[in-house]
Amino acid sequence: MTQPRCFGVLGHPIGHSRSPAMHTAAFEALGLPHRYLAFDVTPDALPSAIAGAAAMGFGGLNLTVPLKTHALGLMDALSPEAEAIGAVNTVCFTPEGVVGRNTDGAGFLEALRGLVGAVPSRAVVLGGGGASRAVVHALVEEGCAVRWVSRRPAALPDWDVERRGYEGLEVALEGAALLVNGTTVGMRGGAPGFPVPLPLERMPIDAAVADLVYPATPLVERARACGRATMDGLPMLWGQGVLALQHWLGLTLDAAARDAMRQALVV
Ligand SMILES: NC(=O)c1ccc[n+]([C@@H]2O[C@H](COP(=O)([O-])OP(=O)(O)OC[C@H]3O[C@@H](n4cnc5c(N)ncnc54)[C@H](OP(=O)(O)O)[C@@H]3O)[C@@H](O)[C@H]2O)c1
Repeated sequence: MTQPRCFGVLGHPIGHSRSPAMHTAAFEALGLPHRYLAFDVTPDALPSAIAGAAAMGFGGLNLTVPLKTHALGLMDALSPEAEAIGAVNTVCFTPEGVVGRNTDGAGFLEALRGLVGAVPSRAVVLGGGGASRAVVHALVEEGCAVRWVSRRPAALPDWDVERRGYEGLEVALEGAALLVNGTTVGMRGGAPGFPVPLPLERMPIDAAVADLVYPATPLVERARACGRATMDGLPMLWGQGVLALQHWLGLTLDAAARDAMRQALVV
C-alpha cells in the first residue's frame, strides 16, 4: 500500500490559493492517500520551511508570490527553465538533493494548446514580471516570435524577442495571433489600468487573447464579446499544477486525474 505523503504550496499571503483543492482532487482520482496543504511562509522563513519539508519527507512543494525568486539560492540544483527564468515554482525532493523547477511556462503552453490547438507563430506579451518571463521563455522555446511590451523595455531580459514600450503596442499587435496579459492589471488589488488603451481591433480577427490573471478579467470579457478565443489564468494554473504533480510522482497523469484537477478549479 502507498504510504501517505505531504505536499504543499508556500506563499504570503496564501489563503486564496486554489492549489490544495486542485491537487487533492488529483490524489482522490488517482486513489492516492497523499495530502496537499497551503502554508503561509514569508521570504525570511523560506530557508527553514524548505529544510523542514525535506527533513519531514514531503513529496514536493509549490512556491507562489513572493517566494519564487527567493528560492533560487536555496536549491541544490535548478532545471534549465528555472535557471533561465530566474524563478522556482516547483520544488522536488530527490535523492540527489533539492531541485528547483519552473512549470509556469510549460503549464501556459499546455493551456494554450487546449485553447487554440498549436502554439501560434507570433505573439505579444504584456509585462516584464515573473509570470510573463515564464510565458515568454516557453513561447520562444517553441519558435514563436514574441513582441514583449513593458513600461521599462530596456529592463527586460535580452532574449530572442522584440522589446517595446507601450507606445509601440499598436504596431506590435498587427499580425499577432495571440495577446497575453502578464501584468497585474485586472487582478483584484492589482494595477488600476494599462498605460494605454489596448487596441484589440489591430489584431487579426481570429487572434486569441490570454490573461494570466483569474478569474475572468475585463480584458477577457472584452475580447470574448468581440468573438475572440480567450482564456483567463485558471487553465495556466491547471497546466502548471499537472506538470508539477507529474514531476513529484514520476508519472504521466491520466485523463481522469487531469479532468478532476480542472473541475476542482471551477467554483
Ligand atoms: N495563472 C497562473 O497560473 C499565474 C501564475 C503566476 C502569476 N499569475 C498572475 O499573473 C500576474 C503577474 O504575476 P507576476 O508574478 O508576474 O507579478 P510581478 O512579478 O509583480 O509582475 C507584474 C508586472 O506587471 C506589470 N505592471 C505592474 N503595474 C502595471 C501597470 N500599471 N501597467 C502596466 N503594467 C504593469 C509590470 O511589468 P513592467 O514593469 O515590465 O511593465 C510588472 O513587472 C498576477 O496577476 C498573478 O496573479 C498567474
